[in-house]
Amino acid sequence: MTPEQVHLIRKSFAELSRHEHIAALVFYRRLFEIDPNLQRLFKGDIEEQSKKLLEMLGVLIAMLERPLGLELELKAMGLRHAGYGVKDEHYAMVGRALLDMLAETLDRGFTPEVREAWTALYGAVEAVMKMGAAEADLPERV
Ligand code: HEM
Repeated sequence: MTPEQVHLIRKSFAELSRHEHIAALVFYRRLFEIDPNLQRLFKGDIEEQSKKLLEMLGVLIAMLERPLGLELELKAMGLRHAGYGVKDEHYAMVGRALLDMLAETLDRGFTPEVREAWTALYGAVEAVMKMGAAEADLPERV
């Protein structure tokens, strides 16, 4: 990620944090529009869900701070997600819902450069989480 992309992410994250409830409503509405079956995986009310969304965004932001140090944590998180019932193909859906939520919430602030920066960041985190989940699929050694 370029320094300019890091700056754009931080700026849009600050903007989102000011509207966390709306962001959560928009994100989950969009996600469940993309695949209503995903509703089964999530528990809790909108309060809890908006905390979860901020947690997810917090992980993405942490990736900016220490991309290398985060690898083991992200792999462990990918493994936990497999335990929640999350499959590889769900990552693209969450990525789409995230971008659509950003577009709606940031409105004119959602420039092509902002889109590209979030796409790169989400893609990087997604890749490591999927690796963590895949490692758990390896056959056990005898
Ligand atoms: C970049 C990708 C993602 C990040 C950074 C992320 C982050 C998080 C974090 C930090 C938590 C809190 C619990 C924990 O750490 O284990 C969580 C929970 C959860 N995530 Fe994700 N997540 C991602 C992608 C996904 C995807 C693709 C799905 C599938 C729909 C998903 C579904 C869930 C569910 C079901 C929970 C538990 C919710 C509950 O207990 O109600 N996440 N996520």
